[in-house]
Amino acid sequence: MQSLAIIGSQWGDEGKGKITDLLGQKCDLVVRFQGGNNAGHTIIVGDKKIVLHLIPSGILHDHCESIVGHGVVFDPRAFKKELEDISKSGVDITPKKLKISSNCSVITYYNRLLDGQREEKGTVKIGTTGKGIGPAYEDKTSRKSIKLKDLLDKEVLITKLRDNLVEKEVLFKHLYNVEYPSAEQEAEELFELGKLIGPFLCDTFSLIDQAVTQNKKILYEGAQGVLLDVDYGSYPFVTSSSTSAGGIYTGAGLPGKYVDEVLGITKAYTTRVGEGPFPTELFTELGDTIQKIGNEFGATTGRKRRCGWLDLPLLKYAVKASNITSIALTKVDVLSGLEGIKVCTGYRYKGEIIDCAYPGIDLTAVEPVLHDVPAFKDDFKGDDLSEELKSYIKLVEDGIGIKVGILAYGPERSEIKFIKDFF
Ligand code: IMP
Repeated sequence: MQSLAIIGSQWGDEGKGKITDLLGQKCDLVVRFQGGNNAGHTIIVGDKKIVLHLIPSGILHDHCESIVGHGVVFDPRAFKKELEDISKSGVDITPKKLKISSNCSVITYYNRLLDGQREEKGTVKIGTTGKGIGPAYEDKTSRKSIKLKDLLDKEVLITKLRDNLVEKEVLFKHLYNVEYPSAEQEAEELFELGKLIGPFLCDTFSLIDQAVTQNKKILYEGAQGVLLDVDYGSYPFVTSSSTSAGGIYTGAGLPGKYVDEVLGITKAYTTRVGEGPFPTELFTELGDTIQKIGNEFGATTGRKRRCGWLDLPLLKYAVKASNITSIALTKVDVLSGLEGIKVCTGYRYKGEIIDCAYPGIDLTAVEPVLHDVPAFKDDFKGDDLSEELKSYIKLVEDGIGIKVGILAYGPERSEIKFIKDFF
């Protein structure tokens, strides 16, 4: 295998970071292709906890090149902070190790302001991370983006910012009634940040093209999850990028090739942060217990994650939508020892039972069919799994039609069991 994509197969926070970190060790390149610093990948290395938002997980390995593809929306201020934080952990970040596409769209101050104001004062709240992701992608699709390469030219910055603010200031002055920086102020700040970012910028498309030609091993690191995909997800409660494997082809660029395998990262239960429908959500004490044992707090915003049972109709859909070829079942330890575990195997919907979701399905109108699962009490000290856990895994595999390739039962690198070989 030369290339592998790691894709969240639920609503994000499935534990992608640690698996990307482990498999990244075997790769020459680790590539981000969508999203921005709304992502939060926590990686535990020894006694250190490292949280990556924008920088690919490959940065922790010296032999690896970390690539930020042009599909990523890039906040220069957040990048500066992340660079400082990671450097404090003793990880060296040089332009030789980190390459950022000069064609990434920039998240501006006014993008973040707009995101925050909409969430605070709008009628429909998405529960965004407040990082300006949606407004930055709006600028991109409306052909107004400031690109990272523009940070090197103050005149271009001022011209573009002035043009963009003509519309935005109507909103800030007359609708939201908030202060915002002038084009000149923002241009000055971005230009200064451009001096820091400039050495990392390059043509990442050609770099990936060459790596593919030279048969290098490439890992594509997805952020968020398929159910937050702007097309496949539970719209409008989604993020604004293509989080499925399809996003790789446009957001990183993979000229004339396909990704060999897609690994879907899946928690043994389901969580969601922010608003939106969640058919198997638990409002019981057991839900609180899972939240506590699983330490289900967002790595980016610190918000409590909503918890519920594993939802096979959604998982099966994510597998199809993202061409997932095997899954990593994570946080299995959280369920170990709990009585009364259930798995959703289908939905009652419009008088029928269905076993797979589809784009635009009304998730508020489905009634989950819940299957009781025998409790398992594995301590994961030896190699063997209990019969009960094996039957849980089989239920998942039978429900989605593909195999569990990895089992994860703790945050440490040593708490990940490879059933299948990758690379
Ligand atoms: P945005 O990406 O900040 O616009 O947020 C849109 C939706 O995606 C909200 O429900 C967020 O909670 C969710 N979201 C964004 N990034 C992540 C993530 O990394 N993990 C989980 N949920 C996320």
